[in-house]
Amino acid sequence: MTTVTAAQAAYVVAALLFILSLAGLSQHRTSRSGVVWGITGMVIALAATIGLASRSITATGLVLIAVATALGAGIGLWRARVVEMTGMPELIAIMHSLVGLAAVFVGWNGYLDVDAELTGSLLGIHHAEVFIGVFIGAVTFTGSVVAYLKLAARIDSRPLTLPGKHILNIGALVAFVGLTIAFVARPGMGLLIAVTVVALALGAHLVASIGGGDMPVVVSMLNSYSGWAAAASGFLLANDLLIVTGALVGSSGAYLSYIMCKAMNRSFLSVIAGGFGTPAEDGEHGEQGEHREIDAEETAALLRDATSVIIAPGYGMAVAQAQYPVAELARRLRERGVEVRFGIHPVAGRLPGHMNVLLAEANVPYDIVLEMDEINDDFPATSVVLVIGANDTVNPAAIDNPASPIAGMPVLHVWEAGQVVVFKRSMAVGYAGVQNPLFFRENTRMLFGDAKQRVEDILRGLDSLDTPTQAMATTSR
Ligand code: TAP
Repeated sequence: MTTVTAAQAAYVVAALLFILSLAGLSQHRTSRSGVVWGITGMVIALAATIGLASRSITATGLVLIAVATALGAGIGLWRARVVEMTGMPELIAIMHSLVGLAAVFVGWNGYLDVDAELTGSLLGIHHAEVFIGVFIGAVTFTGSVVAYLKLAARIDSRPLTLPGKHILNIGALVAFVGLTIAFVARPGMGLLIAVTVVALALGAHLVASIGGGDMPVVVSMLNSYSGWAAAASGFLLANDLLIVTGALVGSSGAYLSYIMCKAMNRSFLSVIAGGFGTPAEDGEHGEQGEHREIDAEETAALLRDATSVIIAPGYGMAVAQAQYPVAELARRLRERGVEVRFGIHPVAGRLPGHMNVLLAEANVPYDIVLEMDEINDDFPATSVVLVIGANDTVNPAAIDNPASPIAGMPVLHVWEAGQVVVFKRSMAVGYAGVQNPLFFRENTRMLFGDAKQRVEDILRGLDSLDTPTQAMATTSR
């Protein structure tokens, strides 16, 4: 078997492993094996690619590949080991930016190093591929860098609203089409530089125009763009595996964006068009009346008397790493005969499935962890809701205030329960930067402090409430 045939066979195996990996990752129970399939596929793909390349490169080239692989693997391992769960979206965004940058480099290389055998319409197709690859790659690169800066709170997460922003976006697309036609007709460095600059500016503007609350959709959308950028590079490099893998990432990212748009009641097109139709800011940042506080012991007493409890976790539970005491609280209440369930908003936390992963880590049974749609009608019949570090996902302004930046986003209707206890450290706003009228409702009590400490205090409170009962029981025996 020649090296080329062996590499092609390896590519087919790797592509199948990537498909198996995606299938595995679609469910909790099989996600670990999904990761193993993915790693195995990537090792095979890398080995086959290096094997193919080694036929035509010098020893120095091979050393450079080895150094680049070791460096990349080292940085990847280090970042993946130290990253906090809450920092995953930033890590993903920065990785997408690297895919975009690589596609730009591959595109530029495709222009500088044209295969001498390409002539006529094949050469035209090659130049169109160069342009498309550079365009998608550059949009992905700056879009991902801006997404990283927003997610890491290095820049303001509020949407940038330049005058005529949609005209700017459409103008950039029209310029891309015009430049592509000109480049295919008469390729030149000036045109390539022009499209790179236009695409870099468009990527930054598209993501800067999107508000904080819509960032989950942006991250999955950039995931999709990075896949298409890789597929475009695959065409340029005539690498079938890169085309297949890019298409898998591109289409699964697009589908995830679609699911997230549906969950957030956003139009897919409006988000990819850079926040088209984003409602005006309503300036609701200040407090909206009196809030009432509660302490951990009072909360323990409330829970002791409750018949049904729903826990709505959010980003703050992840920051506080409160999932273990929260799981213990759920277990203790269930032992007492209280019906306890978790209500999970599709974008609670900072990455899809964030809350489900944390609760699974703390061994909360799957059957009491319900999606928002499954639990939203049950709040009126619930005695107590514990909102643990959630804010935007339980904000009634999304329903009541059409001028709110999160207007139209479905939320958990926690305020319909008998009593709501909100765990957070201050009256600060959530990720989307809007104040939450829930905090000022008649049936809401604020329990200030770190979520983990407060839940542990409640567990102690339940112990001390139990002690007199047990003492009396012993006496009466
Ligand atoms: P957020 O609206 O982000 O609010 C989290 C709340 O947790 C904050 O108000 C904060 O208040 C509190 N908090 C932080 N640390 C805490 C601690 N140690 N103990 C107690 N409370 C703490 O949360 P959410 O309801 O989960 O909403 C998620 C938001 O993130 C949405 O806007 C969503 O669009 C966005 N987002 C989601 C994703 C995905 S895919 N899930 C990705 C990117 C962005 P204090 O500071 O007062 O404590």
